[in-house]
Amino acid sequence: LKKIIIDTDPGIDDAMAIFLALESPEVEVIGLTTIYGNVYTTLATRNALHLLEIAGRTDIPVAEGSHVTITKGTKLRIADFVHGTDGLGNQNFPPPKGKPIEQSATEFLTEQASLYPGQVTVVALGPLTNIALAIQSDPAFAKNIGQIVLLGGAFAVNGNVNPAAEANIFGDPDAADIVFTSGADVLAVGLNITHQVVLTDCDRDKLAQSNGKFAQYLCKILDVYFGYHHDAYSTKGVYLHDPTTVLAAVDPSLITCVEGVVRVQTIGITRGLTLFYNKQKRFGEVTEWSDKPSVKVAVTVDAPAVVKLVMER
Ligand code: BDR
Ligand code: CA
Repeated sequence: LKKIIIDTDPGIDDAMAIFLALESPEVEVIGLTTIYGNVYTTLATRNALHLLEIAGRTDIPVAEGSHVTITKGTKLRIADFVHGTDGLGNQNFPPPKGKPIEQSATEFLTEQASLYPGQVTVVALGPLTNIALAIQSDPAFAKNIGQIVLLGGAFAVNGNVNPAAEANIFGDPDAADIVFTSGADVLAVGLNITHQVVLTDCDRDKLAQSNGKFAQYLCKILDVYFGYHHDAYSTKGVYLHDPTTVLAAVDPSLITCVEGVVRVQTIGITRGLTLFYNKQKRFGEVTEWSDKPSVKVAVTVDAPAVVKLVMER
């Protein structure tokens, strides 16, 4: 069984992704780590604990992550207009009974990676601060971690915060650049992939009729997410960003990738832009690119298969 740690900012699609991972027999979820993004970190931790209680999986530890970007001082961008002020569709759920563990997210990540070298996959569904801090605090982390599968970036397509940037990368571009150039085995799933993976209004109607384990709960929290998509996009449904990323970790045959260097713009109006370089074309002065390790970037996805698995699980 592949061991996975989900680094998350729950978040409605994060909630779907966590449930999906828990229902995937191919993987064992060994912990959740939390990060700001859709909500502030304190609320992300509360939501992570709540979701594990809904799933009946309070045996899984939750480690709280960073409250600030890696360079500190940056104003956080919180996507409450997408996910509701509580991050879970404005449902006013009662506070969870459980508490996070004493270890920080970074301590938990580095410890698990060194306990099980090469065997732990981090599925990163929010800004990459915790992962970058793990890379900086433990020089062995990048090689100890099996793989980092992340929802981040917009490769040769527009972002969703602005034309340049996708939300998770925009949340902490400096952290993202550290992760992409760390030498770890990184697989990036960007908007070029997830904007092909749509849960339709019709799928939601099917969920509403279903007595599956999470169907009724998800229908409740999904209202706000559908409302945002109806206003913001012409798509008749919602993008399955984080669930697609979990499935890319669970079953890599659902996607294809290319390999090359990814750098992240950290300043100016294109802050948060992800740029891919396949290393084939030779330029004169590109050591900031050619000397960097390659990562994998997803370029195709079997979208119907992903939606089918989400619905089934
Ligand atoms: C990403 O940003 C968050 O709003 C979602 O949960 C997802 O991880 C999409 O850009
Ligand atoms: Ca997320």
